[in-house]
Amino acid sequence: MTTDLLLHRPRRLRRNPAIRRMTRETRLGPEHLILPLFLVPGRDVVKPVISMPGVAQLSIDRAIPVAREALASGLGGIILFGIPERKDSVGSDACDPNGIVQRAIRAIKEAVPELYVIADTCLCEYTDHAHCGVIDGGEVDNDKTLQILGQVAISCARAGVDMVAPSGMMDGMVGAIRAALDGDGHAGIPIMSYAVKYASAYYGPFRDAAENTPAFGDRRAYQMDPANRREAFREALLDVEQGADLLMVKPGLAYMDIVRDMRERFDLPVAVYNVSGEYAMVKAAAANGWIDEERVVMETLTGFRRAGADLILTYHALDAARWMTGQ
Ligand code: PBG
Ligand code: ZN
Repeated sequence: MTTDLLLHRPRRLRRNPAIRRMTRETRLGPEHLILPLFLVPGRDVVKPVISMPGVAQLSIDRAIPVAREALASGLGGIILFGIPERKDSVGSDACDPNGIVQRAIRAIKEAVPELYVIADTCLCEYTDHAHCGVIDGGEVDNDKTLQILGQVAISCARAGVDMVAPSGMMDGMVGAIRAALDGDGHAGIPIMSYAVKYASAYYGPFRDAAENTPAFGDRRAYQMDPANRREAFREALLDVEQGADLLMVKPGLAYMDIVRDMRERFDLPVAVYNVSGEYAMVKAAAANGWIDEERVVMETLTGFRRAGADLILTYHALDAARWMTGQ
């Protein structure tokens, strides 16, 4: 071996923690994390989601302390999913001023005003068939659904939400929501679009948490085929043209290439959803002692940041924030 070949020794910059820290390329902080919460009616309800250890459906009174903790931990914010008392064919509770999410928004913004609150904007937790839109002739009627989504967004904005996040993969949903919000005096409320959302088996545990398993069929007629990449560019472009403020890719782990693509192709902030199935796999392996949960979670979250995500929606948010600050 000539000395020439060993002129460059990358290991010099890995020799100890101090130099590794100084030369680290990717930063991950609590401010990059958004915690999803599942709200249910009632008082003093903490109903564990069996397939997601550490996650529970919460009544609003029980969500307030979690919201406080989210703020104290320095999280970027929270995203709310509501599970209403009554479901019907058009998801009426989703735009009821006294619906579960609207009440939760008001209560959380009153108790913890500085916490950034996002509302998932979809119908699937509110419809009795659990599809993301209204059904006509056995299929989701895109354009009828758009009208309702506009009303859902307005009702959340009136309740004081900071941002809305449409997740139903309806064509034109961003434009329809933008127009509805602007028309009701909420031009300042940004839209984080679930722009690139794949029809994924990784959503399995979420369907227990949000009680939104479709009564018939599946979501493949509106969510994307996991095999498609070019289509992601097209979906994202349409949302940008309609006024999206942030673009989300979902799920995360199996779609890191798409996160990178979004980062390179568009200048909007990119969010990634580290979904329920990804969480469940880590929790199950950790519970068996097969992996080191903290190290695996931090590695995964860092990986999302390295791939180009600005924000990460993750059920690990509070744990990760604790691990980051060493508390
Ligand atoms: C529904 C919705 C889903 C998730 C967020 N919003 C599930 C689905 O589309 O079936 C999944 C989140 C997760 O799995 O953590 N609009
Ligand atoms: Zn939905």
